[in-house]
Amino acid sequence: MDYTLITGATGYLGKAFAVQCLDRGENLYLTGRSADKLSDLAAQLKSRRPSATIATFACDLADEQSRAALFDDAKDLKFSRLINVAGADIQKAFALYDQNKLTFQIRANFEGALSMCLFCLNHRAERLKIINISSICGEYAMPYFAVYAASKGALTSFSVALAEECRKSGVTVTAVLPGAVHTRPDVEEYIKAQGAWGKIAAKSPEYVAAKSLSASDKGKKKLIVGGANKLIYYISKIIPGCLLIRLNANSRKHTYKDAF
Ligand SMILES: NC(=O)c1ccc[n+]([C@@H]2O[C@H](COP(=O)([O-])OP(=O)(O)OC[C@H]3O[C@@H](n4cnc5c(N)ncnc54)[C@H](OP(=O)(O)O)[C@@H]3O)[C@@H](O)[C@H]2O)c1
Repeated sequence: MDYTLITGATGYLGKAFAVQCLDRGENLYLTGRSADKLSDLAAQLKSRRPSATIATFACDLADEQSRAALFDDAKDLKFSRLINVAGADIQKAFALYDQNKLTFQIRANFEGALSMCLFCLNHRAERLKIINISSICGEYAMPYFAVYAASKGALTSFSVALAEECRKSGVTVTAVLPGAVHTRPDVEEYIKAQGAWGKIAAKSPEYVAAKSLSASDKGKKKLIVGGANKLIYYISKIIPGCLLIRLNANSRKHTYKDAF
């Protein structure tokens, strides 16, 4: 029996992936930090498809020992899909971080995802499809969101490189770069503040999950989600770098987010 491992399954986007993978008939191995949230989610999914096999394991991906406990729990399973959704979008000036917060965000967004990739490569079914949820922010230098953007940029770069290493080995890797996604209340506020642009560019978690799974089915290495985000990405390529950084700084400098 093969499993689909989803990190960050208890979040908005993670749940959308869990539902769509369940509807595809996949067996699920779900993780997030909270055992209570995971068992609630598993119960909801089970009522949607009573015959499904759904395993859960609470794990802090920023913690090596916690990851080791998950690896021990899952050591006898085979994985045909890994979806790294977990992430922390702490957003503030770099000087306002402390050392703990800094390592937490980098580990949750980058180290944790790579660690799960390595585990699933070593416990793969005949074929393995990896989806890494990065962000369009990772394509830019983002003052006041610098650690998030840099960690997501690193995740995208790693994913594309791994996809090439794994070519012809039955493993595909797809880096997914969403723009804003209708999720938590603070993200909804941010989308609202963007006015018409927010309305055009922001997508639902269900849309992002469906596009990601479809890109993964096709073996795509990198997906920018949504036509508006693609357009702005290509326009940004012709804007002088120093102007782009100033624009990014101005759009982010009044936002402070640190609830993780
Ligand atoms: N929302 C957006 O606009 C947007 C845009 C682009 C990219 N993304 C990316 O999409 C992903 C999901 O975002 P979302 O909006 O669904 O966020 P969310 O609802 O806040 O969910 C985040 C998920 O990550 C998990 N998580 C956070 N830190 C963790 C850690 N150290 N160890 C294990 N799990 C951890 C959380 O688990 P707990 O339940 O235990 O807290 C939760 O399941 C993130 O990687 C984010 O960067 C989001």
